[in-house]
Amino acid sequence: MKTAITKLFGIRHPIIQGGMHYVSFAQLAAAVSNAGGLGIIAALTQKTPADLAREIARCHDMTDRPFGVNITFLPTVTSPDYPGYIREIIQGGVKIVETAGRNPQQYLPLLKDAGIKVIHKCTSVRHALKAEAIGCDAVSVDGFECGGHPGEDDIPNMILLPRAADELKIPFVASGGMADARSLVASLALGAEGINMGTRFLATQEAPVHEKVKQAILAASELDTRLVMRTFRNTERVLNNPAVERVLEKEAELGKDLRFEDIFEEIAGVYPRVMQEGDVDAGAWSCGMVAGLIHDIPTCGELIARIMSQAEVLIRKRLTSMLEEEI
Ligand SMILES: Cc1cc2nc3c(=O)[nH]c(=O)nc-3n(C[C@H](O)[C@H](O)[C@H](O)COP(=O)(O)O)c2cc1C
Repeated sequence: MKTAITKLFGIRHPIIQGGMHYVSFAQLAAAVSNAGGLGIIAALTQKTPADLAREIARCHDMTDRPFGVNITFLPTVTSPDYPGYIREIIQGGVKIVETAGRNPQQYLPLLKDAGIKVIHKCTSVRHALKAEAIGCDAVSVDGFECGGHPGEDDIPNMILLPRAADELKIPFVASGGMADARSLVASLALGAEGINMGTRFLATQEAPVHEKVKQAILAASELDTRLVMRTFRNTERVLNNPAVERVLEKEAELGKDLRFEDIFEEIAGVYPRVMQEGDVDAGAWSCGMVAGLIHDIPTCGELIARIMSQAEVLIRKRLTSMLEEEI
């Protein structure tokens, strides 16, 4: 399948694996890229720019195909060494960057001068338009369904994607709630040029996380995610567990008086404990509503091949036959 996104990134299939903290290591990114999609390494999971340089080199060793690096601009007081991470991305010969969080404008000239294509992840049409205006090559439009940070507007993809299609000139991929061929074909119909998946790639053979995390996703239904940290306007969609329920109780109880210290235990430093040690109740960790559509743990190759072959059947048989049948 050829779309504006496959052409932009030089990939075979219009499927991107979104950057995920403590999940998007080189082995997952390489597996997705080797399967014809676009794998992405999460920069900030690497403690220092030098660690990121090693992770990029490891990914080059595992794939000859294009892969990207995610840089998440966090609303934190002490900023990570973003210039250092960007330096290593450029020196490591990475040609695609997924930015997320705050506006990446400050770093765009550096990336563009190095010939890097930038796809910015955003949760609203106004932010997507801003990304287009500052020179991003594409956007990843994250609907309310998504695992991670859905923003504060709460617009699901059925509305958000056609709204984006109506306004944007640059290509975009649909992100949030994507799991299978139906997601891909629907997204293309709504105006996207491909899909971005997080939670679905978490439940694959190559995702370098504890087996208990994958089983937790399989066990979850679409009813099992919750939104935390809305009080701080930093909403995160996470898998429900007792720690998440404690956060929600504190948010309800303290309202505007809630301070980060009040939920520190349930939020800070949780990812390595969940993803590496398999303590899935350690605190709040991102997971999309799409968990309700995930019932197996395929390899990335099997997953992507399945999506592409079933998408072809959907388009050629189901949709085309609807046009051909006379009543
Ligand atoms: C466990 C997990 C960790 C994530 N970490 C990040 C991150 O560090 N930076 C980022 O931009 N997005 C992050 N995301 C969001 C994903 O890249 C992607 O946009 C999102 O998962 C799409 O929604 P879906 O889960 O419904 O597919 C994370 C998602 C998950 C599930």
